[in-house]
Amino acid sequence: MVKIFLHGCCGRMGKAIAALCENNPDYKIVAGGDIIENNNYSFPVYTSLNECTEDFDVIIDFSNATAVPTVLEFAKSRKKPFICCTTALSDQTVADILNASEEIAIFKSANMSVGINLMIELAKQATKILYPDFDIEIVEAHHNRKLDAPSGTAMMIANAIDQEIPDQTEFVYDRHSVNKARSKQEIGISSIRGGNIVGDHDVMFISDEEIVTISHRAQTRDVFAKGALRAASFMCGKERGYFTMSDIIAEYTGE
Ligand SMILES: NC(=O)c1ccc[n+]([C@@H]2O[C@H](COP(=O)([O-])OP(=O)(O)OC[C@H]3O[C@@H](n4cnc5c(N)ncnc54)[C@H](O)[C@@H]3O)[C@@H](O)[C@H]2O)c1
Repeated sequence: MVKIFLHGCCGRMGKAIAALCENNPDYKIVAGGDIIENNNYSFPVYTSLNECTEDFDVIIDFSNATAVPTVLEFAKSRKKPFICCTTALSDQTVADILNASEEIAIFKSANMSVGINLMIELAKQATKILYPDFDIEIVEAHHNRKLDAPSGTAMMIANAIDQEIPDQTEFVYDRHSVNKARSKQEIGISSIRGGNIVGDHDVMFISDEEIVTISHRAQTRDVFAKGALRAASFMCGKERGYFTMSDIIAEYTGE
């Protein structure tokens, strides 16, 4: 059984993970953290991480970018693997996380779905074949409560595609402030916010004659929650190093 400290436990993702762990003999949430006080869980919820006395195997974090530096320090002080799922991290926080992976084990992914990570592999393959004859556009859609745009996943896709392009690319976010024709080196990234969309991502490869679209639709938050629990099992017992969903995909493919 993997014992979990769940940070951001009162949020949408925190609740999804808590629900999946109920009556699941493989996982136990032993404590949580949030800025909201909560007495409805069967585990204690700390608003100050220093007060946590429980022992645990891993930390899963789905909270807010501003909270991540504190959670990282908590992980370092307890010498436990840190699974960072929160998005929109500052460059400084990303650098601090990378540095910390020399001290503790870190798992970081802006999208914990196995399907999205497969989609990224397919988009990289398509880019190798279709660039520069096809224009590349990424369109993402999320629920109307999402704070950051574009999504961390859209940026993951854009960065992965960028690695396959030998030219200097330019990311163009929406086009409202760009009064010029599209260049071949451009990767367009557009965001839609509305209703209760869990997370849609399309990568479009567009030529004069045809359009190839690679699509992913998350139908429920459980896809991310299940990925985070999969990562918890993967990270349990690891002492240091930096891991991503690619390491979990590699387990499926045996590479
Ligand atoms: N990696 C992935 O696959 C994935 C999937 C979904 C969401 N996310 C990201 O996870 C994060 C949380 O998403 P959500 O939909 O659950 O959001 P949410 O707003 O529903 O929940 C966030 C929770 O964190 C708490 N929180 C906020 N600031 C805090 C702080 N300073 N200290 C402690 N707790 C704090 C809030 O009170 C809330 O309970 C976001 O960054 C989101 O983009 C990542």
